[in-house]
Amino acid sequence: MAEDREQQGVDIEPASGRLGILMVGLGAVATTLVAGVAAVKQGMAEPIGSLTQMGTVRLGKRTDNRAPMIKDFVPLATLDDLVFGAWDIFPDDAFESALHAGVLERTLVYALKEDLEELRPMRGVFDQNYVKRLNGTAVKAGISKMDLAEQLMSDIADFKRDNRCDRLVMLWCASTETFMEPEPEHADLDSFERALRDSSSAIAPSMIYAYAALKSGVPFANGAPNLTVDIPALCELAQQARVPVCGKDFKTGQTLMKTIIAPGLKARMLGLRGWFSTNILGNRDGEVLDDPGSFRTKEESKLGALEYILQPDLYPTLYGDFDHIVRINYYPPRGDNKEGWDNIDIFGWLGYPMQIKVNFLCRDSILAAPIALDLVLFMDLAKRSGMRGIQEWLSFYFKAPMTAPGLYPEHDLVIQQMKLNNTLRHLRGEDMITHLGLDYYD
Ligand SMILES: NC(=O)c1ccc[n+]([C@@H]2O[C@H](COP(=O)([O-])OP(=O)(O)OC[C@H]3O[C@@H](n4cnc5c(N)ncnc54)[C@H](O)[C@@H]3O)[C@@H](O)[C@H]2O)c1
Repeated sequence: MAEDREQQGVDIEPASGRLGILMVGLGAVATTLVAGVAAVKQGMAEPIGSLTQMGTVRLGKRTDNRAPMIKDFVPLATLDDLVFGAWDIFPDDAFESALHAGVLERTLVYALKEDLEELRPMRGVFDQNYVKRLNGTAVKAGISKMDLAEQLMSDIADFKRDNRCDRLVMLWCASTETFMEPEPEHADLDSFERALRDSSSAIAPSMIYAYAALKSGVPFANGAPNLTVDIPALCELAQQARVPVCGKDFKTGQTLMKTIIAPGLKARMLGLRGWFSTNILGNRDGEVLDDPGSFRTKEESKLGALEYILQPDLYPTLYGDFDHIVRINYYPPRGDNKEGWDNIDIFGWLGYPMQIKVNFLCRDSILAAPIALDLVLFMDLAKRSGMRGIQEWLSFYFKAPMTAPGLYPEHDLVIQQMKLNNTLRHLRGEDMITHLGLDYYD
């Protein structure tokens, strides 16, 4: 019986009509996403880095030669179906903001001027106690945090109606908030709603957006390391409202490399003495992260990966005692073109030491934009497939993946990719691929 269900796959509502993408924060990542989608639609560029646009998924046996495009295998919204909206605490439209971010060449931004100018942000919910380095002017006023949540819910409903959207997804691509730990106010939905009404300091602006999204039945993805939706109260609401959530922190430059290299070292049982990672970047994100509170949030998110991948408890000789240090330095001349250095001290046979040096001259938002695109399309797919709560299969995209309570996160990029592909196969009733392969030799 269970097998039959697997064969049939899951009932997925069609991706018909328009999908509204509501972005919190119209900065570097958001404008690179919007401009990128416009450029691809106009045939000016290719959507490099996006699994939903370029990836394939293998089905069945290797000898079957079945590897459809992911976008043909599962029903996804197309780029033509997307409508973008945003909130920000600065009034700049997407054209001005893209120029300010300095990620894309000015000639490209000017070529897309008409598309970008149309996107004007709504006033944001903001409190400088949570992001010290910003002082926005386009901020909503409210008598309580619950009032602010209700204003956001009105924005969501108005956007949906005015843009004739059939479905929505919300994506947090606003600045990193200060470090917060789970508080009693986050423990369950009743306590959370009481705290909203009391305007408790335990409720950060990002949580107000997430609450408004979930109450409106809108999936919420968190591209920053803030706690936000990763608290029991909002996970409870996501379950109750049957809405998918995922996070945290787009896995882009240095952590992407870390989660590629570390599983390889472990696979070969090579030991680790230390991993020193340092970055310079000069965009607004870098400026925000120059504040110790926001940096702490980022640091926690970046530090977790190695511990979980290397499993020091299982391999004390190899990984029981290593130093892991992460630094981010705000260095304005570098702009969005971050430079990361990694010094990795490893040891091999008989304990002989070796070093690996990685110097990654990456472009942060160029790496983040395709992730943002995939996330919103997959979150919409998840919603139409009846999936709710934490979407662990999307941990492929995150530095600090959300998981069910008591479950350790999977950080290894290859395992994450298998999980993602198997979820797609499961949705369509295809066999899981175990890579056992003995049957080829029978
Ligand atoms: N660029 C990357 O590769 C990358 C990777 C991982 C995570 N992130 C995270 O994604 C987020 C966005 O990065 P970015 O480079 O686009 O930053 P950015 O500074 O260019 O843009 C953030 C925008 O959010 C706005 N904002 C801040 N608080 C807000 C609020 N409460 N409501 C509405 N708008 C608000 C800011 O005014 C700004 O325009 C950051 O938290 C960053 O840490 C980025």
